[in-house]
Amino acid sequence: MIIAPSILSADFGNLQESILKVKSAKWLHVDVMDGHFVPNITIGPVVVKGLRKYTKQVLDTHLMISDPVKYLPEYIKAGSDRITFHIEAVKDPMKVIKLIKDLGVKVGISIKPATSVDSIKEYIPFIDQVLVMSVEPGFGGQSFIPNSLLKISEISELRKSLNSDLLIVVDGGINEVTGKECSLAGADVLVAGSYVFNSDNPEERIDSLRW
Ligand code: DX5
Ligand code: ZN
Repeated sequence: MIIAPSILSADFGNLQESILKVKSAKWLHVDVMDGHFVPNITIGPVVVKGLRKYTKQVLDTHLMISDPVKYLPEYIKAGSDRITFHIEAVKDPMKVIKLIKDLGVKVGISIKPATSVDSIKEYIPFIDQVLVMSVEPGFGGQSFIPNSLLKISEISELRKSLNSDLLIVVDGGINEVTGKECSLAGADVLVAGSYVFNSDNPEERIDSLRW
């Protein structure tokens, strides 16, 4: 199981120290919001550039923005290793997949809680990860939507039938209990924000997800 602490719940006044608290995690999850695709504004490419100087962890960038094509090159230039865009935000997903691959990083597609697995089926052979949103995108600290487990199982079956090695990422409301359920359903990566950072011992929280 790969754990990806979401820096959305970190201390933005002292990001360098915050990420030191989760240095055992392989990935760091970076939530980018534009105040349009979701009702919140967060992290620009300059912040990714700043983080890049202080860590070798995989920077897993989750674009919750209406125009990913316009901005994703900047995030890659800044040091993102993986770029995930939302299927709901683009007209031609294949074009976006190709653009991200051509820029030399891994590519993922995310689906909101109301979006079906069917809508991404045809892209599975071409991508590195699917990110299942298990809360409405926009804010940390929400409760896990149980229906997400069915979507994880469905994707897990699909990847088996397609002989694909894509990673299944789950994002939102992850804690010790929901994390275990996701893992049993077939998830490979758990994104956790408030559970990891709202604690005196973030490393212990990470360990509790890695069973
Ligand atoms: C929500 C973000 C998540 C968020 C998860 O839109 O995509 O990555 O940080 O936060 P928690 O783990 O607190 O639900
Ligand atoms: Zn996210």
